[in-house]
Amino acid sequence: MESLDFIAGLTHFDFAVGDLLNADQAMALAIQCAYNGAPFVSPNPAVGCVILNAQGKLLAKGHHEFFGGPHAEVNALKNLSHEDLKSAQVFVTLEPCAHEGKTPSCAKALAQLPIAKVVFGLVDPNPLVSGQGAEILRQAGIVVEEFEPRTKQQKKIKTELEEVCEVFLHNFRHKQVFTTIKMATSLDGQMALSNGQSQWITGSQARQHAHYLRSCYDALVVGRKTIENDDPQLNIRHPDVQKNNRIVILDPSGELDLQGKKVLSCHAAKDIFWCVQEGHPRHSQLQKQAEGLGVQLLTARPWSGPHKPTMNQNIFDLADLSSQLWSQGIRSLFIEGGATSIAHCLQQNFAQRLCLYVAPQILGQGLSWTKGFSLDDINHRIHLQNPKHQSLGSDIFWTGRLKNSHI
Ligand SMILES: NC(=O)c1ccc[n+]([C@@H]2O[C@H](COP(=O)([O-])OP(=O)(O)OC[C@H]3O[C@@H](n4cnc5c(N)ncnc54)[C@H](OP(=O)(O)O)[C@@H]3O)[C@@H](O)[C@H]2O)c1
Repeated sequence: MESLDFIAGLTHFDFAVGDLLNADQAMALAIQCAYNGAPFVSPNPAVGCVILNAQGKLLAKGHHEFFGGPHAEVNALKNLSHEDLKSAQVFVTLEPCAHEGKTPSCAKALAQLPIAKVVFGLVDPNPLVSGQGAEILRQAGIVVEEFEPRTKQQKKIKTELEEVCEVFLHNFRHKQVFTTIKMATSLDGQMALSNGQSQWITGSQARQHAHYLRSCYDALVVGRKTIENDDPQLNIRHPDVQKNNRIVILDPSGELDLQGKKVLSCHAAKDIFWCVQEGHPRHSQLQKQAEGLGVQLLTARPWSGPHKPTMNQNIFDLADLSSQLWSQGIRSLFIEGGATSIAHCLQQNFAQRLCLYVAPQILGQGLSWTKGFSLDDINHRIHLQNPKHQSLGSDIFWTGRLKNSHI
């Protein structure tokens, strides 16, 4: 099973039951476990759990495997007896839940056990849980601690705890969709040749990885020209993931002819959101067209930000569009291009993460992935926070949180 645990930037552990772990290793292993659920848990967080016995030996690990399924703690506990759990220590990436939802409360389940201690990575921002899960455990006489970062390594683990459930945290903290920009480029930063050719820039390993990453987001976003030029399928093609994703197409003028496009045959039409400008003069005609195809028509208002690029007056206010997608149950977006779509996203400071696959090739002047995006002050350059990279065949994958200060 492919996993994104390398994104955690921590040592990849291969601990076996019975191995002796310290607290930092246990929490880092819990993060690694959490990533295994990333494609399947939305809108829940990816959570991992590791249980050590009284001597610090690994008893079990688990993760939240799918939305509505047992939580990480329950999966880690499932083969352990009360005898095994005497004075055990539980490490879980997020505070155990206090409330009964689709599954029973994990805090209440843990409170029944003869465990000595629970260390949780982050306080759950959900008001139904926040602090209450910890309180249930304390009331049961269990020592409860939030993972406190004192050393450099622990600070790194704390950052990784935030990142493993970044979509969930962003959703709760800001009531907004979490957005990632993803693209494949040459060494000279080109996403396509000037004639539009772009398939394939990266090798098979990077492409398989990108499909896995795609599966971790609720919907994939592309601009009109990517559909016209590439006629992509935009589905998830990965041996470990069976999942349908949703597609958002940015087409303010409503000029795109979706009939016969692969995206229509590879997805349930209702999972395709065709986005056109608000107040479009042909709105009722476009609505009929959408109904005929079975796709959903959305309208978004124009962006009126301070750095509105001059190249296109029909630029969507992406925050407005995303709040409509939020109402449709979408909690995370994966913007796959092309360059114009990415430029608008950067301009509006809309994305939280960048995922970039760089191939060892030179394409010459073509379609630069920042085409249409420019800054007038070097102090406004966009930084990648907590950047990480990994080799995938001969390509290099870069990722990091976007820290944007130009607007
Ligand atoms: N290497 C890669 O990873 C990768 C990935 C995807 C695509 N590509 C390549 O990229 C090329 C296409 O890129 P592109 O930059 O020409 O076009 P694009 O981003 O695919 O589509 C641009 C069009 O989408 C609409 N659009 C995008 N963002 C919008 C926003 N915020 N608000 C309103 N409308 C928005 C606009 O339509 P209107 O013009 O109608 O206003 C815009 O002109 C293709 O050749 C494809 O092969 C490469």
